[in-house]
Amino acid sequence: MKSNVLNKHIITTATIAAIAGLLFGFDTGIISGALLFLSASFKLTALTKGLVVSCLLLGALFGAALSGRIADYFGRKPVVITTAIVFTIGALGSTFAPNFVTLIISRIIIGVAIGIGSYTAPLYISEVAPVELRGSLVTLNQLMITIGILASYIVSLIFSTGGEWRLMFCVGIFPALLLGVGMFFLPESPRWLVMKQYSDKARQVLQKLRQSDDVSHELSAIEHSIPKSRPTLKDVFAPWARPVLFLGLGLSVLQQASGINAVIYYAPMIFKMSGFQGNVSSIMATVGVGIVNVIFTVISIWLVDKVGRRTLLLTGMVGLILCLLTLSDAFHHHQLAGQLKWITLASLLVYIACFAFSLGAMFWLLISEIFPLRIRSFAMGITVAANWASNILVSVSFLSLVKWLGTGNTFLLYAVFCMIGLVFCYRYIPETKGCSLEQLETNLLEGKRLAKIGA
Ligand code: BGC
Repeated sequence: MKSNVLNKHIITTATIAAIAGLLFGFDTGIISGALLFLSASFKLTALTKGLVVSCLLLGALFGAALSGRIADYFGRKPVVITTAIVFTIGALGSTFAPNFVTLIISRIIIGVAIGIGSYTAPLYISEVAPVELRGSLVTLNQLMITIGILASYIVSLIFSTGGEWRLMFCVGIFPALLLGVGMFFLPESPRWLVMKQYSDKARQVLQKLRQSDDVSHELSAIEHSIPKSRPTLKDVFAPWARPVLFLGLGLSVLQQASGINAVIYYAPMIFKMSGFQGNVSSIMATVGVGIVNVIFTVISIWLVDKVGRRTLLLTGMVGLILCLLTLSDAFHHHQLAGQLKWITLASLLVYIACFAFSLGAMFWLLISEIFPLRIRSFAMGITVAANWASNILVSVSFLSLVKWLGTGNTFLLYAVFCMIGLVFCYRYIPETKGCSLEQLETNLLEGKRLAKIGA
């Protein structure tokens, strides 16, 4: 059989697993639309509104923290299938919630599923992907997140005329079912199979995924990188592993410190603050943000394995800083009042474009690549949990920051975080394009500098 890396098996496999990303985007995005109507149905106060938004994030934090262990123990495939079932239960619970407590419990359940899925899906994709396509295929997961966010904005718009928040939640059931059923037909990750000493099965899976009988080289590279014993917390914090953990955690916090979810969750409000009148124009502008997010994630998929991770990351971060400084300046100069809304719209559109092809896509990709196999699962779990914890901090503090510091200074603060991030990425981010996961691991163990482990 001839080797053909870009074949329908690998594309279908990655696309189905990436539906977990779609659920992530949809379920985090839908609350901004549903919240307006939930408030009326359940007579929510400011406090209980905050609870509805943050309980999902707390669930996700918990799910992500849990996921490293369970994906190693049970395998990537059963964990993603279970995640789909949990999603479905949570979505049904929120659709039919008879009272506020049921709604909160259901949102926590969805959060746990998002947390586990947000980690297991990119891990699975990176482990089935051939090296030439790994960047594009893992970034497919981020694309699905952005499509999920956009879908949630559109679904909110459609059902907002009748205030049907139950239908808004109900839509999430369909992709969850699709993920569960689709994943059932996919193979287990060959790397996990080797880890559990099912090398024959791993060979068959690789032959099918690569559409080639000649997979011995890849298989033996995987076999060599397999840990001899079960990883422990001590391994993750061992001196040789600390640099990559530092890299993953740094990127994770930075992604959120850029203020992305202040924009994703509060875009309609920011547009209103800048002078857009009425809900409809603000929501339309928000849909614009969602569309640009999707388009530039597609562009990053196309570019990532050509120009590389570092170039995209650094270019995007310079763009983020410029947009945030422009926004900050515009909100500081009230004399610009008439133009403020247009400056805000333009800056936020460019901001989201820059985020999409840099911190958005590259964070999920790099954390699925940089960790050696023996600690990959565990370390990714910790990194993703840190991402959710930072997400909670940024999204919960945004409104208070606007109140205490003013909108202009809040954007300035995010700009400062991005500047620190730019220096961090410039110094430490390796170019992993075209380097196999096993080679990255060897370079790290040989003590190469972080920025050079992809060389
Ligand atoms: C981030 C999310 C964010 C989304 C926006 C993801 O990479 O992890 O927190 O909402 O991008 O597209």
